Amino acid sequence: MEEFYLKDGRKVYVRPLEAGDFEGFCCFFEQLAEETIYTNQYPGRPRKSQEAYNAQLYSENFCRWVAIDENGAIVGTCSIGIERADHPWLKHGAGFGIMFLKEYTGQGLGRFFMQKMEQWARDKGVHRISAEVRAKNVAALALYLKCGFVVEGLARHAAFINNEWHDHYYISKILD
Ligand SMILES: CC(C)(COP(=O)(O)OP(=O)(O)OC[C@H]1O[C@@H](n2cnc3c(N)ncnc32)[C@H](O)[C@@H]1OP(=O)(O)O)[C@@H](O)C(=O)NCCC(=O)NCCS
Repeated sequence: MEEFYLKDGRKVYVRPLEAGDFEGFCCFFEQLAEETIYTNQYPGRPRKSQEAYNAQLYSENFCRWVAIDENGAIVGTCSIGIERADHPWLKHGAGFGIMFLKEYTGQGLGRFFMQKMEQWARDKGVHRISAEVRAKNVAALALYLKCGFVVEGLARHAAFINNEWHDHYYISKILD
């Protein structure tokens, strides 16, 4: 298990998601859904089934890490997956997601996990990493641009949240 010190001095532990994390993982997403509209979690969303949860643990084309506080609670996660690993033309593309509880944002964890995620992609021979981000998500855009991603397009009115339409940017990075 790796240790990471936040900018304010607190310590978190980082490791891949494990089978025993199921309950903590569900609680994490429930809290996240209350805190932000910038992920696709939403309050009241049904929990993942244990089967769906287990499926992500044992795939060689997908990796998820978690950040854990000193009390053992999951406070963040980052994942990356090769979506069409079986397709000869599309197997070089991967999508990612990254999210932390509010109390843990702006503390350097984003940079740390993006590097980890990119290294996994390079080791797997991935050529293109991509994601969608709400256009108003200033923190995520700042992080992605600082990590070498570029905005390659805009999806207008991609989400309708609290009576408001939100545009999404498509962002990507090509790995040399
Ligand atoms: C978006 C998110 C993952 C960013 O991670 P983070 O840990 O807060 O980012 P970091 O602290 O590592 O900051 C990375 C860089 O972005 C910059 N940044 C972070 N938040 C910023 C903000 N609100 N405005 C401008 N720049 C910001 C930092 O200055 C930092 O630059 P530096 O490394 O040169 O100092 C995190 O804020 C989060 O989980 N938000 C809620 C969920 C979410 O939006 N997920 C992304 C969905 S696409």
